Amino acid sequence: MSNGKPQSHGKGEVETTGHSWDGIEELNNPLPKWWLYTFYLCILFAFGYTVLYPAWPLIHGATPGLLGYSTRGAEAAEMKAWQTELAPLQQKLVATDIAAVKDDPTLLQYANSSGAAVFRTYCVQCHGAGAAGNPNGGYPNLLDDDWLHGGTVQAIYTTILHGVRDPHDPDTRPAPDMPAWGQTLQKADIANVVQFVLKISGQTFDATQADAGAKVFADNCAACHGEQGKGNQDMGAPNLTDAIWLYGDGSQAVITQTVEYGRAGVMPSWTGRLSDADMRSVSIYVHGLGGGK
Ligand code: HEC
Ligand code: HEC
Repeated sequence: MSNGKPQSHGKGEVETTGHSWDGIEELNNPLPKWWLYTFYLCILFAFGYTVLYPAWPLIHGATPGLLGYSTRGAEAAEMKAWQTELAPLQQKLVATDIAAVKDDPTLLQYANSSGAAVFRTYCVQCHGAGAAGNPNGGYPNLLDDDWLHGGTVQAIYTTILHGVRDPHDPDTRPAPDMPAWGQTLQKADIANVVQFVLKISGQTFDATQADAGAKVFADNCAACHGEQGKGNQDMGAPNLTDAIWLYGDGSQAVITQTVEYGRAGVMPSWTGRLSDADMRSVSIYVHGLGGGK
């Protein structure tokens, strides 16, 4: 048992702390020197660190530290270094005719990788992560070679620069809205023209109704969609014969809804929101996805 008092075990022997349990005594060895000095060094280091780097929390932030370091500052410096490195490429991209970028491998590689990053940040919420679009929202697939407004890299660039039906951009692509025919056509005419659209898009249709619908189409729809229903890119009027649908699955129900209520999809203009270099990059990226002309 412990009697609570330190005891000496004679000359040259280590003192005990006075603790003993079942005859086992606790010796009071001094700490090893290497351990002690490491410990003091740690204290010194910690003190130095708090003086040099941001450390002590205050009411509005922390002590800044003598070195003026901040993670945000380090990040900014790194970004600046990147920008300095990329600036010549960006300038070259902006100065090069967009159709000629494909002839410059370094520029093309830069445009594709920075375009992919722009796409991931600004375009996926509508066009989807894989750029396959979303027919529930009228967001076109950008992978196929079916283009509402043109699939050359210049046409894609114009669409991105100014958007489609974007009321905030005076240069937006002039696309007439798809009229709401429910207000002007008879129900029977609508039913007939829908059968005609089913026919030209290669789906099952009612022959009598489709025949009657052909005249309704020629009178009311051909002006925008073309006599054959093959669409018109100057107006953003979709090709109705290719079984690629901007809205829904091209079923009778969806086509009827489109014809009755009309559509007017808005693609936002990016001028002023993205740099010209970024808009060019993302145009080249989209053009390269597979459907570019
Ligand atoms: C808010 C949703 C939205 C966002 C964000 C968006 N788009 Fe679009 N985009 C649309 C819609 C809707 C259309 C179809 C417009 C129409 O009906 O004519 C479209 C059309 C396009 C077209 C024309 C397709 C064709 O067939 O001619 C291109 C190219 C395009 N978008 C690229 C982009 C790029 C690149 C970005 C990112 C910088 C982007 N979009 C961001 C909604 C969006
Ligand atoms: C003033 C021009 C114009 C006229 C006239 C017009 N359309 Fe359209 N139509 C459009 C445009 C533009 C779109 C694409 C709307 C969008 O981008 O949001 C469209 C879209 C459609 C779609 C959807 C296609 C898809 O891929 O999902 C159908 C179906 C359609 N029109 C049928 C008709 C029929 C049938 C008529 C005649 C009764 C007609 N349109 C008359 C301009 C027109």
